[in-house]
Amino acid sequence: MQTVWAMLICLAGGQLASATFCKTYGNIPGIPGSPGQPGSNGRDGENGQKGQQGPPGAVEHEEDMGEKGDPGVPGYPGKVGPRGVTGPKGLPGPMGAPGPQGDTGDYQATLKSVFSAARTISSYPRRDQPVRFDRILTNEKGHYENRYGRFICRVPGIYYFTYHVTSRGNLCLSVKKGRGGSRGEKVVTFCDYVHNSYQVTTGGVVLQMAANESVWLEPTEKNSLVGIEGSDSVFSGFLIFPNA
Ligand SMILES: *[C@@H]1O[C@H](CO)[C@@H](O)[C@H](O)[C@H]1NC(C)=O
Repeated sequence: MQTVWAMLICLAGGQLASATFCKTYGNIPGIPGSPGQPGSNGRDGENGQKGQQGPPGAVEHEEDMGEKGDPGVPGYPGKVGPRGVTGPKGLPGPMGAPGPQGDTGDYQATLKSVFSAARTISSYPRRDQPVRFDRILTNEKGHYENRYGRFICRVPGIYYFTYHVTSRGNLCLSVKKGRGGSRGEKVVTFCDYVHNSYQVTTGGVVLQMAANESVWLEPTEKNSLVGIEGSDSVFSGFLIFPNA
């Protein structure tokens, strides 16, 4: 009864003053309060462990499978591999086609050779020595050397050499052929035997000449060759055919 009174007093007094002034005067339980509001959701739990791999899928009906796709685009080329060993030598190729026709040759400019020279030395030429025909009459291209009485071949080919010389006695002349300053070889020899009268004696030969070969005239001991005004002695030569 006292507690009830106390509560009543407290309730009544609470209107006027703070609850601290209320005092409990007994052990009588109070009326249960109304349920509180539900709490907010908790945080997500941590991920669970990975499950086991499932069995392979199966197509139930063949007709359900799609058509085979097109091939993919080719990949990029791979890296260059190491160099292989050298192969054996191949067979020669077939012969090529003939080339175009060459330009017209300058025959007149390059394949000329002709000379004629007279002797103006009154003394007899020396035995077994080249006869000098010192006065040049013709020397196209300068293949005749009047200092030595030699023709030097610069255009290989077939040549004609001839001489017309005046003599007053016995005369034998050889046509000689050689290289450089060599003694040369006798090609032909012509002899004329007369005494105390002028005469013109002649000889000639056709020769195949190679480049740098020389031709000259040489007397034997029968050397009565003169070259004087009015009785000339002439050595001549010319190219007939150049070598092909
Ligand atoms: C001819 O002689 C010249 C020099 O005088 C030389 O250059 C040339 O090679 C020679 N030719 C031959 C075929 O001997």
